Amino acid sequence: MEPISTGKTVVITGAGSGIGRAAARTFADRGAKVLAVGRTADKLAETAGDRPSIIPMTVDITDPDAPQAVVSRAVTAFGGMDALVNCAGVFRPTPLGAVTTHDFDHLIAVNLRAPLMITQAALPLLERSAGTVVNISASIGQHGWPDLSVYGATKAGLDFFTRSWANDLALRGIRVVSVAPGPIETPILENNGLDWPTVMNVHQMHELVPLARCGTAQEVAWWIANFTESLAGYVTGTILAVDGGYSAA
Ligand SMILES: NC(=O)c1ccc[n+]([C@@H]2O[C@H](COP(=O)([O-])OP(=O)(O)OC[C@H]3O[C@@H](n4cnc5c(N)ncnc54)[C@H](OP(=O)(O)O)[C@@H]3O)[C@@H](O)[C@H]2O)c1
Repeated sequence: MEPISTGKTVVITGAGSGIGRAAARTFADRGAKVLAVGRTADKLAETAGDRPSIIPMTVDITDPDAPQAVVSRAVTAFGGMDALVNCAGVFRPTPLGAVTTHDFDHLIAVNLRAPLMITQAALPLLERSAGTVVNISASIGQHGWPDLSVYGATKAGLDFFTRSWANDLALRGIRVVSVAPGPIETPILENNGLDWPTVMNVHQMHELVPLARCGTAQEVAWWIANFTESLAGYVTGTILAVDGGYSAA
């Protein structure tokens, strides 16, 4: 059977590592053309590897000009956009009593404001293609976690965007979903400058997961790609937990 994504054009933020990298490769292996967006050229080049259908774009998505630059690049490279995956994210503990405005503003800017602004800029292209927006939130955004109130709030906010935009955009033919991962083996903690004791503590999250292990980026990427396929066409406003059962525990 022909891969269902053949010829599709996909923009993925945070494609330089972890879940975004796995998603870029999954889409490319299904025949899609991918604009891989991130801050670090080397990481994006590694994501692309020997897959010529992955085009790297180095940009900080919090830059005010970034949303339009991403959309313009998608038009230049592909002539449009069938799917937007808002995957870039930053993570850091914010123990109450020691939350700084810098940390708060940075978490909001990357995890919440940038997906909003990029989605907004992409709407004309997504409307033309009857496209899909996939927001990558987090399973804990539906629950709560000690010392992660700001990160969790950005993810809860992203899920609220998903439900709201699903309503706002349904009649324009655009579907919007969230994929909400549990603990996934990626470099997210190291990428955010967390030291090893902190990394160990956070990785102990997997002890609370019924399946008793961390997930892989590939296991999340599979759902991201499937949501953009035509047989997912009756799904919008959905928050899918890919979390080893954490949210059911
Ligand atoms: N891993 C988990 O356990 C887990 C669980 C729940 C939710 N999530 C969510 O899943 C998403 C992907 O996480 P991951 O685990 O794959 O993390 P990751 O490996 O650290 O990937 C995040 C990517 O976001 C990019 N990024 C960060 N700030 C950016 C900015 N200002 N502009 C452009 N790109 C930026 C990073 O690029 P640079 O390295 O170049 O800065 C990095 O490639 C995030 O939204 C995260 O919150 C992850």
